[in-house]
Amino acid sequence: SWQYSLRPRRLQEYIGQDQVKNNLSVFVQAALSRSEALDHVLLYGPPGLGKTTLANIIANELGVNFRITSGPAIERSGDLAALLTNLNEKDVLFIDEIHRLSRNVEEVLYSAMEDYALDIMIGKGPSARSIRLDLPQFTLVGATTRAGALTAPLRDRFGVICRLEYYHTEDLEYIIKRAAEILNIVIEADGAREIARRSRGTPRIANRLLKRVRDFAQVDGDGIITESLAQKALGLLEVDTCGLDKIDQRLLITIITKFGGGPVGLDTLAAAISEETDTIEDVYEPFLIQLGFLQRTPRGRVATKAAYVHMGVPYQGDQETLF
Ligand code: ADE
Repeated sequence: SWQYSLRPRRLQEYIGQDQVKNNLSVFVQAALSRSEALDHVLLYGPPGLGKTTLANIIANELGVNFRITSGPAIERSGDLAALLTNLNEKDVLFIDEIHRLSRNVEEVLYSAMEDYALDIMIGKGPSARSIRLDLPQFTLVGATTRAGALTAPLRDRFGVICRLEYYHTEDLEYIIKRAAEILNIVIEADGAREIARRSRGTPRIANRLLKRVRDFAQVDGDGIITESLAQKALGLLEVDTCGLDKIDQRLLITIITKFGGGPVGLDTLAAAISEETDTIEDVYEPFLIQLGFLQRTPRGRVATKAAYVHMGVPYQGDQETLF
């Protein structure tokens, strides 16, 4: 096939996230018809849902260059100044993990976003002065897993704020079929559906599972991904029927068996399963909450009845914590 990349390059090829896609399409067309730079865009949502892909597509649709960096990579305000002064008119600058920008860098970004200008301090002490450098008009596309982790002044400078949702199974099925075609993988519709169901609503996971299931199809089968082959392979990959992996399962079982179903504090839970609190909050919890297996309460995390049922543990009913 002519296309080697799994990543869609245009909005037309991008599957799912219909509301975000339709809105962005309007804002891009409007900016183009006014010959202006697109307003700054904030994309937020769980990892693997296509924030980087979408940012790249925005640049393609605008017909401008795409520059990519991340919050932690911009160590000093000078690094940011170098990036900004090298942009061409209306370019897209993508900053991944934008909630991890340092304070200094973030403050320089404010005037860049608002006025397309850089305020640079020259010298120190009483003779210090500030000079203003004009920048090209540009579009900042920021991505974060948590919009709540952004400071209010930064968040307020984005004219377009898009929340990416977990994908529907049908959309994932279509994404898997598209990827299979690009990678020359033979897959039956029911096989694609089975992988889609177990991909945690996440294209990145769907594409990874597709490749691993193909490995089983080639080595243990006849190369064709059928529903039963997908089921067997996904079982061997330790992905359960809801798409939970070993860590999701350990998290739920730990709350249920070690903490009486909760509530248990995040730090305690993280220590009990040897994972980082950020990873639990950004990667594992959002999906478990979406499935209705977990609740965040003021007193901590609670496993729901559905979690007990899924993990095969008898549910004792709603109990008051006894202390
Ligand atoms: N590959 C990964 N994400 C995709 C999407 N949203 N649309 C099409 N192909 C994809």
